[in-house]
Formats: sequence, structure tokens, C-alpha cells
Amino acid sequence: MRQSRLAEPPDSQSRWAKGMDDMDITVLGTGVVGRTLAAGLAEQGHSLSVGTRDVAATLARTEPDGMGNPPFRQWHDDHTDIELLRFADAAAGAEVVVNATAGGASLQILEAAGSGNLAGKVLMDVANALDFSLGMPPTLSVANTDSLGEQIQRTHPLAKVVKTLNTMTAAVMVNPARLEGGSEVFVAGDDAEAKDTVRSFLRGFGWPDANIVDLGGIRGSRGSEMYLPLWLSLMGALGTAEFNIKLMRARRHESGH
Ligand SMILES: NC(=O)c1ccc[n+]([C@@H]2O[C@H](COP(=O)([O-])OP(=O)(O)OC[C@H]3O[C@@H](n4cnc5c(N)ncnc54)[C@H](OP(=O)(O)O)[C@@H]3O)[C@@H](O)[C@H]2O)c1
Repeated sequence: MRQSRLAEPPDSQSRWAKGMDDMDITVLGTGVVGRTLAAGLAEQGHSLSVGTRDVAATLARTEPDGMGNPPFRQWHDDHTDIELLRFADAAAGAEVVVNATAGGASLQILEAAGSGNLAGKVLMDVANALDFSLGMPPTLSVANTDSLGEQIQRTHPLAKVVKTLNTMTAAVMVNPARLEGGSEVFVAGDDAEAKDTVRSFLRGFGWPDANIVDLGGIRGSRGSEMYLPLWLSLMGALGTAEFNIKLMRARRHESGH
């Protein structure tokens, strides 16, 4: 893996916002979201790694996970150019970090990744703070007056946290055209350039600019995270995870604005 571009002069950082090709990105998380985003970002021309707790243990798994997804090794055999690293090593070598870890463990995992390894970097957070301890359906471990996105930003004040993509299933994240008629993706974060960088990834996945809705600062994570109970009910009602939010706006002359 190449050295982080953080070592380069500051003007190289503003280039990130313009959606440059070939950035060093690490995706923390070996689940279906981590795999899907890592493969999707690699297809955009970026250099990818994936972060995990224990490289050998993750590669040694032979059983499908709790959701029936094949073991990580099977995916990795098809993506040998994407290195699997310990969380801290993965974050240290990257200029952009994606949090695709179990929401209940994200704070602990990002602590293990190291605040210093996140400082100054775009931290794209797609996690949901789902708590399965009371059984199914899961509840939210943080809500109303706070959110996981905000907790991450507070814990790592020098990281540039952008919440996005947590409101849809992994396959739709990287291929919005799977759904007919166009749908929306949200971004929330305090740093405008970081949001521009994330927007460039979203565009690369096929999200039109008009369908990327800016919820403002990282506080906007609350709403997108609190959508999860409705998302889970909709999945049950529709019998599929492949759906998304489509916003219908009043025509301008009817809205009075
Ligand atoms: N599934 C979806 O389509 C979807 C859609 C939107 C948002 N999300 C959110 O995206 C995130 C990733 O979801 P996912 O389904 O891909 O994977 P996941 O099973 O929720 O998370 C897998 C990752 O979390 C780590 N992890 C799990 N429990 C841990 C613990 N107790 N301590 C430390 N690390 C732990 C695993 O580490 P190891 O690599 O070491 O095993 C692995 O890297 C979640 O926050 C989820 O809510 C999922």
C-alpha cells in the first residue's frame, strides 16, 4: 500500500474534494457492506484495503455468517488486490476511512483503529447502532438526542465524519439503478470538503447529484439512523431489502416557495 497522501503538501488535501481517482481508502468491516463498498470503490479506480480484528482468524473462517453470507475468504479470493489488515494498520495507511462495522462495536473498533490514524481524514460512516440484545427486531442503542455519527465525531474530533448510505441495503448503495424510478441518498457532516469527497464516491456508484440530499451537519445522522425501525418494518412488509426512499416534492408554483 502506498504512503498516505497526508504526508503531501496541504493543497493535495483540497484535491480530494474534487473526487480524484486513485485514493488510498480503507473499509473497516468484513461484512457484506464492507465487501460491497470495497469492491465498488476499487471499481472506481481507488486503492483499497479492508480492516478486521484479526486477519488470520477472519481468513480462517469457513462458515457463512449469521446472515448466511459466505465466509470473507471466499470474497477475498476474488479480490486478491484488496489487502486485509488489522483495523489500526488499515486506518494508518489510508487517506479515507469507511466505517462499515457493526454499529454496537463501532466506537470500540474506531478506538482500536486509533484517533491519530483518523485525524484529518474523511471518515465515511455507514453504520447503524442496532442493538440485538433484546432479540428481533433490533432496537437503536442511541437515538433522539444523539446518534452514532455524532458519537464518532465527538470521540474523534479531528476526523471529518460524513454519515451516508446507512438507509439502504448494500446492493443498492453501489448500484442505485437496481431500483426503478430513482431514489435518494443522504449525506450529513460538519466538513464541506469531506462531504464533497463522499459525493464523488456516490456519483461513482451512480447516484445523480440531484438525488444526493444534504442533511447539513453531523447532527443530521439522527434522522437517517432513526429511520432504521421503519426500514426494518418495510423489509418485512415488502419481503425484500431492495427498496429505498424516494422524495416527492411539491411543484414550485404550488409550494409557495
Ligand atoms: N447489511 C446491510 O445491507 C446494511 C445496510 C446499511 C447499513 N448497514 C450497517 O453497516 C454496518 C456493517 O454491516 P454488515 O452487515 O456488513 O456487517 P456487521 O456484521 O454488522 O459487521 C461486521 C464487522 O463488524 C465487526 N464486529 C462485529 N462485532 C464486533 C465486536 N463485538 N467487536 C469488534 N468488532 C466487531 C466485524 O469484525 P471482524 O472483521 O473482526 O469479524 C466485522 O468487521 C453495520 O453497522 C450495519 O448496521 C448494513
